[in-house]
Amino acid sequence: MSTLAGKHIVLGLSGGIAAFKSAELCRALVKAGVTVQVVMTQAAEHFMTAVTMQALSGRPVYTSQWDPREANNMAHINLSREADAIVVAPASADFMSKLLHGGADELLSLMCLARPIDQVPLIVAPAMNREMWSNPATQRNVAQLKADGIHVLDVGQGDQACGETGDGRMLEAEEILEDLEAFFTLKVLAGKAVLVTAGPTYEAIDPVRGITNLSSGKMGFAIARAARMAGATVTLVAGPVHLPTPRGVQRVDVRSARQMLDAVQLNADAADVFIATAAVADWRPSHSADQKIKKDGSGQTPELSFVENPDILATIAQSPRGASGDLFCVGFAAESQDLLAHATAKRIRKGVPLLVGNIGPATFGQDDNALLLVDASGARELPHASKQALAVQLIDDITHRLK
Ligand code: C5P
Repeated sequence: MSTLAGKHIVLGLSGGIAAFKSAELCRALVKAGVTVQVVMTQAAEHFMTAVTMQALSGRPVYTSQWDPREANNMAHINLSREADAIVVAPASADFMSKLLHGGADELLSLMCLARPIDQVPLIVAPAMNREMWSNPATQRNVAQLKADGIHVLDVGQGDQACGETGDGRMLEAEEILEDLEAFFTLKVLAGKAVLVTAGPTYEAIDPVRGITNLSSGKMGFAIARAARMAGATVTLVAGPVHLPTPRGVQRVDVRSARQMLDAVQLNADAADVFIATAAVADWRPSHSADQKIKKDGSGQTPELSFVENPDILATIAQSPRGASGDLFCVGFAAESQDLLAHATAKRIRKGVPLLVGNIGPATFGQDDNALLLVDASGARELPHASKQALAVQLIDDITHRLK
């Protein structure tokens, strides 16, 4: 379940063409279990209608501090006291400058000023033309807003509505949603570096063929995302998969087991936790042909022979930092039966303090899973749930095991 579920958020719109993304954001927040109270400035109403935002949020929109619906006629006080956060998206250059100076000539800025500063965080998603964004005045304002405790989200980069290209676009709705979820997640891994492997590997037979497996990488990607949400610096070494990189995660793409080992070794020294979820091919063809192996019509099939791949997890777990526990190593085992017995044996064989078992055929490619956490003292089950939810639970469990 999203950390946003059950929260009450005031979604403020100031004037900017990016306001169309706020409709999507509102929908996504509602879907995540948030109650959304929309407040719009007059400028915002040039870009979106209150009708649209009311329909999406399921609540009447506020556009004026003189709104007679409030019995005490103090919408700025009432609405801000109820909120778990005020999120202004889009936050125009003008609106940010107003926030900076404590301006309060319309409901949204008035509400930001009137909010109990220690209880109701203010999060803004800037949106403007690239020249406006890079202007020293805006940059000065951003720095001061941050110093004032306002959480300023990043801006996106790319094509702008004005036809120019550069920094200043508002983040996409799903990116803002990710950042909000991260904002509300306890930073139990702050200051820690987490290294994750995910997906299958691909071992070439020739330039057009190879052997691989059905791992989708979803579990590893979910773990990388959960670790980042918990405040860790995350490096994700990914085999060939078709998954978007979790926001804020550094991704290294590799193909073969040996490339994966190289990437892991490059990053292991800086890591505090290593979580090996990748379904690394056990063997690779002993020889990879330079040219495509041709069928010659004789009916003869090529002779393939294999050599064993390096065991990445065992190599790292048995290195000095892994063996001493300075680098906490976690393995995965995808089995088809006898999970507890296989996972227990595998934990000892790999030399890791924690091994996570799952039933491979039941989980490959799926969005959900069930995990069995096996350590030296026994086993604990994480019952069937989405991979995202299990990843959060696993990260929480690992956090308690760190030195
Ligand atoms: O040996 P097996 O593949 O069953 O072990 C699974 C665990 O070991 C997983 O954590 C996997 O990522 C890791 N592994 C590895 N390198 C290999 C084989 C497995 O890191 N060559």
